[in-house]
This record gives sequence, structure tokens and C-alpha cells, in this order.
Amino acid sequence: MSMTVGGNINLGVIGLGRGLVLALPALAAHPEIRLVAAADPRDPARARFAAEFGARTYADWQDLLADPAIDAVYIAAPHQFHAAQAIAAAQAGKHVLVEKPMAISLDDCRAMARAAALAGTVLITGPSHSFDTPVRHAAARIAEGALGAPRLITALNYTDFLYRPRRPEELDPAQGGGVMLSQAAHQIDVVRLLAGSALRSVRAVTGDWDAARPSEGAYAALLDFANGCAATLTYSGYARFDSDELQGWTGEFGQPKDAAAHGNARRRIAALAPADEAAAKLSRAYGGADSSTPPPPIANEQFGLVLVSCERADLRIVPDGVWTYSDSARSFTALPPPPAAQYNAVAAFADACLGRGLPPQAGAWGIDTVKACLALARSGRERREITIEPEGQAA
Ligand SMILES: NC(=O)c1ccc[n+]([C@@H]2O[C@H](COP(=O)([O-])OP(=O)(O)OC[C@H]3O[C@@H](n4cnc5c(N)ncnc54)[C@H](O)[C@@H]3O)[C@@H](O)[C@H]2O)c1
Repeated sequence: MSMTVGGNINLGVIGLGRGLVLALPALAAHPEIRLVAAADPRDPARARFAAEFGARTYADWQDLLADPAIDAVYIAAPHQFHAAQAIAAAQAGKHVLVEKPMAISLDDCRAMARAAALAGTVLITGPSHSFDTPVRHAAARIAEGALGAPRLITALNYTDFLYRPRRPEELDPAQGGGVMLSQAAHQIDVVRLLAGSALRSVRAVTGDWDAARPSEGAYAALLDFANGCAATLTYSGYARFDSDELQGWTGEFGQPKDAAAHGNARRRIAALAPADEAAAKLSRAYGGADSSTPPPPIANEQFGLVLVSCERADLRIVPDGVWTYSDSARSFTALPPPPAAQYNAVAAFADACLGRGLPPQAGAWGIDTVKACLALARSGRERREITIEPEGQAA
């Protein structure tokens, strides 16, 4: 289908979970997006969405895609459904914003990109932290060239990812669980945008440190880019050190964070019977008892320390902006927060649907990020460097 040009975007949401709760303030704030429909198997979530937005709701996402009034969909169902839903959406002529990770296998990602290309529909993977304003500002500065080529990127994030209530598959690496696809996808998107080059290889060590909660919960990785830039990624989801401390106690969504909350995630999980964990996860989903959104942003979103060394200066990305360290001076560019967390990805999607241009995270972009995530996991398992084959030349 041809792109919608001008006018509003009639958006349908597929999956009314935690992801939607986080994206909802941005979707609701965008002047060109109308939330007209939603699909979710959970009755209470559908009833609440219908009441809140006067929207049509469907228990089965295929019925939503059959609705001719819908221009575009935001897919925020669990990872394992992304591919089938995005392919069917493209075939129905709908533009797609699909949550990260794009899908859990490369074949699925490729089929999604092919379906969108064939249909002429937009496909964007996000929101991811590569949409954060300071990341985009730094990437644009690097691409201008005055700072010289990027040489070394350090990205480091310590969170409580593993101790938030989870669905069983979210902790099972065989089903796309653990931090490799859910969290490395953010870090890899960020460093790919900053490096501005194809990834050549990955060497990683991965960690599964808690026998009571077996999963992939941590990694250290070295990424080698074709332009000679290297990136080191460090991630721990084990809820001890919290790298938001290095970001002025700004949370992932640009919200103020309470240092005294340290240890809460582990305490809450420890107090839950394992059989109650899935219900606790759902209580944070749309319509759930604990479904409040983070407080409005006072700064930009952030995903931990990010430092880029270029030939002529270092850049440090922080929630309030970007620091530049040159040979002789240290300067700061202040960057205001968006109107709502995740607004940049939503706005980029709206621009793409309305024919105003595509962001880097469109089309095949998500394939390369998932390829890097899977290479990272494989490198950890096999304890060796994994070469990344460019798309089109892979075996
Ligand atoms: N970008 C981010 O910061 C971010 C944050 C959270 C989640 N996410 C992504 O959102 C996706 C969902 O994760 P979540 O944490 O919201 O999960 P969740 O368990 O909170 O919610 C999943 C929702 O999908 C519904 N659902 C289940 N099967 C479905 C189907 N076949 N079709 C439609 N809906 C279905 C469930 O009823 C539930 O409402 C994941 O891919 C995750 O990576 C992204």
C-alpha cells in the first residue's frame, strides 16, 4: 500500500502489556495518532482500553488486522508473536511499529522485512534507546565528521532486569528470554547508531549467576565494526549495583529515581510464591493493579553510561544532554526531555507513516540488531569470536 500522506493515523495496539503501559503516554500525546483499536486475549485489559479511548477491541489480533479503518499497528505482544503479527499486518496494508526485539529468530526478522518491503508499508523496530535525544544528537555530531571517526564506544548498564516479575518464557533463553534479546537489543541499537558502520564480529562472555533464577542475566562483549570502531558492552541485570547512580539517579525513562529503593526488586520476588509470579507480572500490564506509568520525564531516557571516543574528542551521553571533551576544553550541550518517554520513536513512526521520511531503525535495521544479539549469546556459549556475515551474503 502507499504511504498515508497528511491527516491522522488510526492506530491499533496489539498486546496491552507492560510495554504498552510504558509507550501509552507518548502514543496519547502525539497529535497525529488516534488510538482506535486494541487486541489482547485479556478481557479486563480490553474493557479498560475501550472505556479509556472509546476504541474497538478484539480478543484475536487477526480480527483487528481485518479492520479497514486501521492504518497502522503498534505490536507490543510477547516476543514470540512479533513475526506472525507483523507479517500479517504488512499483508493487510498496515504500517508496523514492532517492539524490540524485532523477533526471536533471524528467519522471522527477514520474513518481516520482506513482507513490509513487498507491501510498501513502514516497519520500525522500537522504541529502543537509540531513539533517545542525546544518542541521536551524538550520532549526528559524529556523522558530521568534524570530531573525526569514532574509535571506541563504552556502554555500561547495571539494572534489576532479572528480578522484575516475569512470564516463564522471559527467563528462558531458548524462547528469547534473558537479557540477550530484551536488553542487549537496546545497547546494540545505541552503539550501532553511534558507530555508523556494519558490525564485523562479536566476542562475548555471558553470565548465568543465580541458580534460583536460571537465565542469561549478564554479559561483557567486544564489538568490532567495519570502520575500525570497537565497542565494549557491559550489562548486569542482577539488581546489585544500579548504574542509574552514575546518571544522577535518573531512571531509564528519564524519571527521578529513589536511591533508597535499592533492593526492592529482589525483596518483592523473594516474597512471591513462584506460582504467583506470572500474575504479578500481569498486575504491571495495562489494566492491572500495579500498572502505573513511571513519573513524567524530567530528563531524557537513558540506558546507562555511554562514552564515545572519536579521533579528536570524546563524547559522553547523559540524561540532560551530551558532554564533549576535546584536547583543550570540556563543554556541555543541554538537550530538553521529550513530552513523554518513548516519544521520539512514536514521532518517528508517525513521520514514516505520513511520508515524512524513515529513521535508521526502519526495515532491515532490526535484522542486524537481532543478528548481533544472537551472536553475542552464541559467543558466550561457544567462548569464541563470532563473525557477522552481512545480510544478503549469509549462508
Ligand atoms: N521498549 C521497551 O522499553 C519495552 C518495555 C517493556 C516491554 N517491551 C516489549 O513489549 C513486548 C511485551 O512485553 P511486556 O513486558 O509488555 O509483556 P506483558 O506480559 O506485560 O504483556 C503482554 C501482553 O500481551 C498479551 N498477549 C499475549 N498473547 C498475545 C497475542 N497472541 N496477541 C496479542 N496480545 C497478546 C497479554 O495478554 C498481555 O496483555 C515484548 O516484546 C517486550 O520486549 C518493551
